[in-house]
Amino acid sequence: MTSLTPDHIAQLASRLYSESPGGHGAGLGGGPLPPVDPAADSMAREQVQAPATPLPPETLPAFDSPIFQSQAPAVAPVASAAPVEAFRGPTEFGSQFGGHAPSFGAGSSPSPSGFPATSSGGSQTDGLRAFVQSIRRSDFRSSTEAFPNGEPKSTSAPTAASATTNHAPGNSRPAAPQFPTFDPAPYPRDDAANGYGARPLDVDAVRRDFPILHQRVHGRPLVWLDNAATTQKPQSVIDALSYFYEHDNSNIHRGAHTLAGRATEGFEQARDKVRDFLGASSSKEIVFVRGTTEAINLVAQTWGRKFLQPDDEIVLSTLEHHANIVPWQLILKETGARLRVIPVNDRGEIILEEYQKILGPRTKLVALAHASNSIGTLLPIAEMTQMAKRYGARVLIDGAQTVAHVPVNVQQLGSDFYVFSGHKIFGPTGIGVLQAREELLDIMPPWQGGGSMIKNVTFEDTTYADPPAKFEAGTPNIADAVGLGAALDYVRQFGLPNIAQYEHELLAYATEALSRINGLRLIGTAREKVGVLSFVLQDRPTIEVGRLLDLEGIAVRAGHHCSQPSLRRFGLEATVRPSLAFYNKKDEIDRLADAIRRIQRR
Ligand SMILES: Cc1ncc(COP(=O)(O)O)c(C=O)c1O
Repeated sequence: MTSLTPDHIAQLASRLYSESPGGHGAGLGGGPLPPVDPAADSMAREQVQAPATPLPPETLPAFDSPIFQSQAPAVAPVASAAPVEAFRGPTEFGSQFGGHAPSFGAGSSPSPSGFPATSSGGSQTDGLRAFVQSIRRSDFRSSTEAFPNGEPKSTSAPTAASATTNHAPGNSRPAAPQFPTFDPAPYPRDDAANGYGARPLDVDAVRRDFPILHQRVHGRPLVWLDNAATTQKPQSVIDALSYFYEHDNSNIHRGAHTLAGRATEGFEQARDKVRDFLGASSSKEIVFVRGTTEAINLVAQTWGRKFLQPDDEIVLSTLEHHANIVPWQLILKETGARLRVIPVNDRGEIILEEYQKILGPRTKLVALAHASNSIGTLLPIAEMTQMAKRYGARVLIDGAQTVAHVPVNVQQLGSDFYVFSGHKIFGPTGIGVLQAREELLDIMPPWQGGGSMIKNVTFEDTTYADPPAKFEAGTPNIADAVGLGAALDYVRQFGLPNIAQYEHELLAYATEALSRINGLRLIGTAREKVGVLSFVLQDRPTIEVGRLLDLEGIAVRAGHHCSQPSLRRFGLEATVRPSLAFYNKKDEIDRLADAIRRIQRR
């Protein structure tokens, strides 16, 4: 049994968690559908009135073989007026995912203690983990008895090396008689017991995991086809959040009490899960932020402000979300650096020859969406990263639209920054990730100042904590990080290659179904896509189409999708955008197609 003296508690507290609680996270927004923008929609109408080019049947994805193979990416130029080609085969497909066999567990085999061997190892984190593990080593009920007045009895300091943890189901958490216990724990703690890819992808069973899908909207069963905007949450994520608040809620990294330990452990385990999920080399590379937008702003404001010089160039693609445009514009104004934009062809594919021409010694950063949120193009990020690296440029990949749909391994990809939002991968809103190479985080200045990100503060000067703490000022979004960890566990059960394969079958089905509708113009017919199907309907404003679909119980996004330059490339201000996830089914696509036909007849 572990027992601690008051002195020891005080020592631990001052060494590891010497700060008082800091600020709080931002709240959430939301609201009704935006009003119809007549200007935007009349433009969309004008565009579709031009004779719609029928989609050649060869453009439909043919996805009938294992797709993820370890292949070095081949840089294959894409002609602007490229002849129609079949959907790429397996080896080329691999290049979109980092040119690798996906591996959630790269470099992360769980240690006997249940913590991966490559865990973050920061002094605060290690110290707290050792402390948490020392508590777990003892029987919790006994240890409670040992502290009847809150006074510890042990005199020996726990160390990470000496700590062991029993992670067997039912032993890893204290009994909580006043609340129903979960068995197994709602956020699994042992990777080996939750091996990824172990659960067959039975879509009906998947759907049962998502309570929100089983409701009627306007009297019709809900069809959720707004997954590019946000994904729905499985019960395990909902349970993890409520379990955290019912049992473990505490501030983290600063209290020497049991709940602080549990909350810290949940938060840091979530960080480890993200590291595994991205194949990052260390948990020190994982910074928790609010989402993709905040992650890109962080990089722009820290790395960008420090390293960009006048006449340096930042290269973006035409397909970027505003979150990967505006933060750069803000910093360019301060630094005198410039933006260069890679064009796309009429399918919405990157023109690699043009990209090659843009790259040069002035290129400091290439920042790319892994997939376009407005038209679904999957960018050849492996080739594009390699090309950028020839000029010594840094590469940032915005994974908001791929994280739930295609696997990635940042080490194999060779990128410098990878960012995503938890809510796009069945996790909570308000939590997201910046993954960055450790050596970059070391030299980047902090972004926000406050609690948790310091080593020592005097009125004269402050020294900063090591990454990732350096970039996590104030009280972080603890519960939602735990929820994100649960979401990654959920996805891992099926394995992203299986999810990607299923979604591509669904995409092929949907592409064909929509392309058979007269007067419907599909926008974005890239040969490599995620499940985003943007379209406009002849003589129908997009917002009106969105609202009419809603009346049929079908949720899609209608508007500019926060990616105006990408739609303007196709002469449009807005599209209707159904987007898929692996809980969608072909009969929902049929319902969408039928509803569109009814709208056309109105
Ligand atoms: C490609 C892309 N980047 C960035 C974002 C912004 O994500 P968030 O609003 O979660 O920060 C989105 C959201 O749709 C997106 O699709």
